[in-house]
Amino acid sequence: MYPDKSILLVDDEQDYRQLLSARLTRKGYRVWEAGDGTEALARVASDHIQLILLDLKMPGMDGLTFLKRCKQSAPWVQVIVVTGHGTIETAIEAMKSGAYDYLTKPYNLNELEALLEKALEKQQLEEENTQLKEALSASGKAAPIIAVSSVMKELLSTAVKLAQTDSSVLLRGESGTGKDLVARFIFENSPRSGRAFVPINMGAIPDAMLESELFGHEKGAFTGAVSPKKGLVEIAHQGTLFLDEIGDLPYPLQVKLLRFLETGEFRRIGSNRLQQVDVRIIAATNVDLERRVEEGSFRADLFYRLHVVDICLPPLRERQEDILPLAEHFLKRLERKYQAKALSEQAKAALAEYSYPGNIRELAHMIERGLVLSKNECIEAADLFPQQLHQAASDWRQASTETKDAGDTEMYSLKQLECQHIRKVLSLSNWNKTRAAKALGISVRNLYRKIEEYGLRP
Ligand SMILES: Nc1ncnc2c1ncn2[C@@H]1O[C@H](COP(=O)(O)OP(=O)(O)OP(=O)(O)O)[C@@H](O)[C@H]1O
Ligand SMILES: [Mg+2]
Repeated sequence: MYPDKSILLVDDEQDYRQLLSARLTRKGYRVWEAGDGTEALARVASDHIQLILLDLKMPGMDGLTFLKRCKQSAPWVQVIVVTGHGTIETAIEAMKSGAYDYLTKPYNLNELEALLEKALEKQQLEEENTQLKEALSASGKAAPIIAVSSVMKELLSTAVKLAQTDSSVLLRGESGTGKDLVARFIFENSPRSGRAFVPINMGAIPDAMLESELFGHEKGAFTGAVSPKKGLVEIAHQGTLFLDEIGDLPYPLQVKLLRFLETGEFRRIGSNRLQQVDVRIIAATNVDLERRVEEGSFRADLFYRLHVVDICLPPLRERQEDILPLAEHFLKRLERKYQAKALSEQAKAALAEYSYPGNIRELAHMIERGLVLSKNECIEAADLFPQQLHQAASDWRQASTETKDAGDTEMYSLKQLECQHIRKVLSLSNWNKTRAAKALGISVRNLYRKIEEYGLRP
């Protein structure tokens, strides 16, 4: 199902990585690089990685810790560890933690290639088995969706019905409201569930690479196209393609995507051959696409094509009944990682009242922070709302009473709150946008957009 030979090189020595990367690319591998364990874990989560070549000695997260975490989240990935001379114990330790094999430095490149081929065979077999098992157990493995409020229950029952069709679905909703989760839910409940679910985030891929990611390219189609590559539309054949953050699709590509959606036909870059695939499309956005259409940055014809059916995920503050069940769900999920704890009554009350500009993602982060900070038997409100959030929560309460008094619209007051809150988090993180975006539970790109929208300055 995945034709690429994809490998991730995890090593803190950049020169070495680049050298190896060039060599393996020439051998037909699709190569990714990561300079440390954290970067590597993110890559494993976002891309389809089959093999990892891991240097055990790295600054930051050490190789063994990375290996264990990686095998937990993506057990099908085969990891080959590279150790220095005389550290055979570590290599054995790594094998016990799930590594496929090890190489001792300095090693011969032919030896490496032979090992990679063997590991790839094993990987493909294991992955096919997992896919088969998953297909057999139907939706059994899908992440649970907590839906207590009637609006969410209704939404899920619509999603189940839609899953039976091949119509394009557009998922809308603020960041962190569960669009990814619902996209997977539709896929898992559809007759296509035994096939591939292929997500692509338009906001995360540089514009120049997007066309090749989507439609693939032939060898020599452009500088750097050293081998032919299948696009995601091909990989998603008979399955589902999830076009995430569709609002970020650059204008010139919009017409190409539209043509593909209408006919199922496409050409790889650099090829004259027209190919056809059968994919079901689910798209998601957290921006107001109608406004983009009015402004002229999003094509109206593409919008209508995607918008055959739309599902709007309401912000968490508009489905209060879900807040505590979600909080309990995250507590349970984190039990394995931290000591199990319950929420105090006061904490529950504070959670129920808060506005969640970052929606469910923010709630999940708050619960984790609560577990980390809590020193008592129960998680208290102060653990969930350290100073800045506490302030924002009470500002919000105040703002909502004030706007009610003033008879203003509620949307206005929430925008004000969002702006205020973002300004506060930015200043607390010294305008480190990666940290701030993480705390807010939104993407960095989304944060930049909001900084611009609100005209925020350090
Ligand atoms: N109803 C739910 N039940 C359980 N977990 C949920 C629910 N909704 C969202 N989550 C969790 O909240 C987090 C954010 O959800 P998700 O990634 O689907 O949001 P999103 O709408 O795609 O956000 P973005 O626009 O930023 O991509 C995820 O960890 C997801 O598993
Ligand atoms: Mg998403």
